[in-house]
Order: sequence, then structure tokens, then C-alpha cells
Amino acid sequence: MKILVVGNGGREHALAWKLLQSQRIQQIICIPGNGGTATTPRCQNISLRVDDFEGIAKFALVNGVSLVVVGPELPLSLGITDYLQRQNLTVFGPNKAGAQIEASKNWAKTLMQSAGIPTPEFRVFTDIEAARSYIVDRGAPIVVKADGLAAGKGVTVASTLEEAIAAVESLFKNGFNTVVVEECVTGQEVSVLALTDGISVRPLLPAQDHKRIGEGDTGPNTGGMGAFAPSPLVDSALMARIEREILQPTVDALRNQGIDYRGVLYAGLMITPQGEPTVLEFNCRFGDPETQAILPLLETPLEDLLLACTEQRLSQFPPITWKPGAAACVVAAAKGYPGSYQKGDAIAGIEQAQEMGATVLSAGTQLKDEQLVTNGGRVLAVTATGDTLDEAIALAYRALDCIQFEGIYYRKDIGHGIRRNTSLA
Ligand code: GLY
Repeated sequence: MKILVVGNGGREHALAWKLLQSQRIQQIICIPGNGGTATTPRCQNISLRVDDFEGIAKFALVNGVSLVVVGPELPLSLGITDYLQRQNLTVFGPNKAGAQIEASKNWAKTLMQSAGIPTPEFRVFTDIEAARSYIVDRGAPIVVKADGLAAGKGVTVASTLEEAIAAVESLFKNGFNTVVVEECVTGQEVSVLALTDGISVRPLLPAQDHKRIGEGDTGPNTGGMGAFAPSPLVDSALMARIEREILQPTVDALRNQGIDYRGVLYAGLMITPQGEPTVLEFNCRFGDPETQAILPLLETPLEDLLLACTEQRLSQFPPITWKPGAAACVVAAAKGYPGSYQKGDAIAGIEQAQEMGATVLSAGTQLKDEQLVTNGGRVLAVTATGDTLDEAIALAYRALDCIQFEGIYYRKDIGHGIRRNTSLA
């Protein structure tokens, strides 16, 4: 079986790495892939853009690809699934209508409101003055969201009125014509990724990621500096509620709108101090770097699960099985990220890190003259498992010690607040 993975991040390397654990998989093709997927046995990169649907379809048809797995939100929101399905290809990932759940905050909030799914109170504005006066009326803290894909930079949690108004002004100035202003809720954030075939849902292990660049969750937001799973914030009773009150009603609401959503429904949840889950956002894809922490614990063959979604037979699928223990993933970034950073620096120490029992998954890397070099802000992630979260985190940090590239930066507190009273490795 040949599987084509669309994307070039750590998430896509993790998907390829996991799929290749099955002997049924003859080959993984990554479009365009990264330096890590280029050096993985039975894995091949093809240099096409993720929005070159025609090129991707042609390649998949000529090469007998059985399944296309779409990683990033951009091609999903542009309709890659619709296009490839019209060419009779099997695709894991929602169609364009379904991807609105991530691509339009306004659409997603309205869907949640009409389906009675818990989400912070909100108002939608297409007029800057109206947004400003609403913000002044409501006071800070308050949340401002772009109504559109913004590569992780579309959300401002403003602690002052000035910050909130500046965020609205900046979004309108940068071409967004709709903003969502939302009540700021407190608590702890959890990522619950579920697989769905458009009818049933199967949640994966709950995970947590660290979005800020700095230790202690300080500084600007990033794509994610590390993650761990399972999150101890979600026990089986809470997961059952999340499935019953959030995930299943969302899939039902999508279906009631005529949307056949087959892929990942990623709920970014806030668990309030009272233990209530509320939806901050939905994403239409696997999380990055949550995927790098969840997949190492998955025992059920991933391709079986993905195909059960695309073939709409998830309700008959046996329970998903997981390895005991925990997994942690620490992202190593280029100096300057999430601002400007340099590329092209040689990366060393990956073999040594892997010999210690960790897995190194590439993100912003490329193979240049047989040498792996940096090629992005988030360069790679070191993922490790252990009997406990502390053990997983300690091994990830020990292995990360082996990795070198110019200006390497990583947070030293991944899993903090969960592993109080333990010293960092
Ligand atoms: N880790 C956040 C995201 O994937 O959107």
C-alpha cells in the first residue's frame, strides 16, 4: 500500500513515521516533505506545492496511491479533498465546506451556538468602530480573533482595552474584513483530537501543548514549542462528557448542514476551574506538535483507523488501543523564532539522540548536499515515551542534549505545572 502525506512539518513526519511502522505500507510519499522524510527509509519526497491539486492528483493516480492524508489546514480550506475525490482518490481530511470549522471563526462559532456546544460568548464585527465600542463596553481581558486562516497569529488574548483595539485595527489593516470578539475564559487548555467518519467519533488521547515561545508560558505565540500526552486534566469521565457534549454534537451539526466530514476534528478546549470544558476553537486537522506526542502511544495501526474514517465504518471499528505510559515532545527552534531567523545551518547529533531511545521528527529541515540543514523556525522535535510523563520528559531532554545547530533554542519546561517538584533534566 502506498500512502501520500501532504505537508512538510513535524506533524507530517510523525504521520509518515507512524504509518511506516506497518509492514503493509510499501511506501510513503510526502508532498513536499522535509529533510527528515527525505532521509527516512521507504519514504520519498516529491517537490510539489500543497496547493498544486492537479499535480498531486496526477502523481497519486500514476503511482497507485491508495490513500492521501492531508496534514495542513491550508490545502483543506482550499478544497484539496473535493478535488482529489473528484479524481476518485481516497482522502483523509475534510472537504472545503468542513474545513470552514477552522478557516472561519465566525462560521465555527455560529455552528457551535446553533448546536448548543459550550463556547465563550462572542460577537462578530465587519466594522472597526462597532468592534471598538463593543470592546470598550465589555472591558478587558477580552479575546480578538481573525475570521480566516492566519498561520497561528490570528488570536490575541488582550489584557487591556488598548491591546484589544490595536489587535482589531491590525487585523482590518492586514486584510481581514471580519473579526470575532470573544469573552476571555480562564482555566487550562487541552487539545482533544478525534477521528471521525462523518457519523461517529473516536477521540485520541488528550494532549497539551505549549504555545508560547518563553518558559513559564511567556512571550509571543508560536506554532507550538512542545506537547505531551495523555493530559492528566482529562480523565475518562471528562473525556466521555467531551465526546457526548462536544465532539458528537459537532459532527451531527456538520452532517445536518450536509457536510460529510471525514478526518480529524481537533477541539481546542479550556477546562475551567469548575472542570467544565468549553471550546476555544476547532481545527480541521491533526495538531502540531500534539501529533508528535500522541502517535508514539498509538497501538492500533494508524492506516486502519484512517481508512475506517474514509470508508465510513468507524462505528464497527474495535476500540483504539494505546501503549501504557506517556509521551513528551520538545521542539527545537532556530534562534529568533517566531520572529525572523536564519536558515541553512548544519544539524548534528540526530543519530546519537535516537540511539538513546528518543525519536527525532523533522519540521523545518532540508537535505542539502547530503547534509541535514535548518530550513524553518521550528526545526525539529525530540519525542520520547516513558512509564510516566516525568520519564518521558527526562528522556526527551537528555536526547535533545545531543542535537546541535547554530542558535538552537528550546524551552526547558515542557510539561511544567504537571511535573511540579521534579527537577528538569
Ligand atoms: N498545536 C496547535 C495547533 O496545532 O494548532
